[in-house]
Amino acid sequence: MLQGKKIVLGITGSIAAYKSCLIIRQLIKKGAEVQVVITPAGKEFITPVTLSALTSKPVISEFFAQRDGTWHSHVDLGLWADAMLIAPATASSIGKMANGVADNMLITTYLSMKAPVFIAPAMDLDMYAHPSTQKNLKTLQSYGNHIIEPGTGFLASKLEGKGRMEEPENIVDCLEQFFARKESMKGKKVLITAGPTYEKIDPVRFIGNYSSGKMGFALANECANRGAWVELVCGPVSSAMQVNNQSIHRTDVESAHEMFEACKALYPSMDSAILCAAVADFAPERTAEQKIKRTGDDMVIRLKPNPDIAASLGKMKKKGQTLVGFALETNDEESNAQVKLKKKNFDFIVLNSLKDEGAGFRTDTNKITIITADTKKDYPLKPKEEVAKDIVDNLECL
Ligand code: CTP
Repeated sequence: MLQGKKIVLGITGSIAAYKSCLIIRQLIKKGAEVQVVITPAGKEFITPVTLSALTSKPVISEFFAQRDGTWHSHVDLGLWADAMLIAPATASSIGKMANGVADNMLITTYLSMKAPVFIAPAMDLDMYAHPSTQKNLKTLQSYGNHIIEPGTGFLASKLEGKGRMEEPENIVDCLEQFFARKESMKGKKVLITAGPTYEKIDPVRFIGNYSSGKMGFALANECANRGAWVELVCGPVSSAMQVNNQSIHRTDVESAHEMFEACKALYPSMDSAILCAAVADFAPERTAEQKIKRTGDDMVIRLKPNPDIAASLGKMKKKGQTLVGFALETNDEESNAQVKLKKKNFDFIVLNSLKDEGAGFRTDTNKITIITADTKKDYPLKPKEEVAKDIVDNLECL
């Protein structure tokens, strides 16, 4: 899987930098080409001579090669690579990457990178556990970067044994698995809905919900990482929610009606749709043209039902197409989910219960049960990026 792959290996200033040699050796043994980019602090821990001997390439550290003034183009590296791996990644470099502080060659290369990025943090537990580091790691995850760490990949919720860099062979395994998956959805087209919808009451007020869009964005990244073309239709999400993948085309909508129109137009040319959006079931019957003033009396807003996007796509579904839905329930979870599965003609439904801590809206984690007409599988609490992998694995098995 790594044969012929071009890997940019970023090395930062951690004692774990010596393990980069083992990573390089394994990557090269598996047929990859490795270009090292090292930070000035990284060079304090391992010499460029060792690294260039292992990779058979000069190590890049400065914007200009000091010997002959050759300009090292971070943009070219960003285009050349099939993947970038930053191992070890210190708290400082993680902070710079998350915040765009481009003060060395490694960070500029990261910011120009067109290929998927893998980050293996290495620091002591206190630094790792600090809210600032946790926040930066979450930011990087939300950019679609892959965080490789020992254990289950949990951020924040389970800290024991964390901070230490993952073992070289496991890091290389992650890259191999990624490239194995990368091809698996090649040529497939997937429609994904994400986020809430806003239903206007007047020019300044709306009916909405707490959906952040994180689960839908994680699904979009996962499908794109496996080689699919993704049409992401998303409701109003925070400006921090960005996609950084050329295989994802994003359409922003506001109301359920707009989402419905976008989905209806797209679904016929798709292989699958995953409906993750928290669509408002009702909208005000009328949107006031001017801001509604306080009158002192009670106020009644009459609501009319919105289109059920899922049920409509379920009716449109042709042979060979698949449709996946979500159900967020507070009670009688499984039986409600079963009803929705049939009513909306889903191939499977992803159930999350508001009773489970860490599941549902406004969290970075989720705990799901995948339900088909005759099967049911429970998954443990995981970061939404990992949950997306489980959901897409199930989609690929249909
Ligand atoms: N859904 C949709 N369009 C709607 C409402 C829901 O596409 N107008 C989709 C959601 O994206 C989700 C699934 O249908 O995949 C179930 O959503 P949910 O809100 O749980 O179901 P409802 O049909 O609205 O049922 P209820 O509100 O009665 O629980």
